[in-house]
Amino acid sequence: MAREVAEKVEYGGVTFEPGEKILMNFPGANRDPEVFENPNEVDIGRKRNRHIAFGVGIHRCAGSNLARMEMLIALGPWLERIPEFELADPNAVTWAGGQVRGPRQLPLRF
Ligand code: HEM
Repeated sequence: MAREVAEKVEYGGVTFEPGEKILMNFPGANRDPEVFENPNEVDIGRKRNRHIAFGVGIHRCAGSNLARMEMLIALGPWLERIPEFELADPNAVTWAGGQVRGPRQLPLRF
């Protein structure tokens, strides 16, 4: 996510001038070892989980609760109807880059 510097500020030994553009590394923040134990591990039951996948502060995602509801509604029936599934070919998985990272091709067997 991008921001524009509104006023001169010093941060991390760097001076930011008004008008300069910065990229906020949300995914990086979600892997901060100072905040998350085993940050690179997928832990579905992660208790301490103050992630910022939905952003933070005044621009925090307006649709986060709708998104969460949609995911729950999608995952529930999937797991009921297809309780057993596996990755068919790990080498055939392709990923999207850019702003939204996720698998583009994910061959499954079930
Ligand atoms: C998993 C799904 C979603 C993710 C990960 C997500 C993520 C985000 C993030 C990170 C931001 C902050 C952007 C920033 O700080 O610049 C944001 C803002 C926003 N999101 Fe989402 N979003 C999701 C789904 C949705 C849905 C379903 C809607 C609406 C139906 C929505 C509407 C918005 C709006 C309107 C903002 C702008 C809020 C503002 O600037 O004040 N999002 N989203």
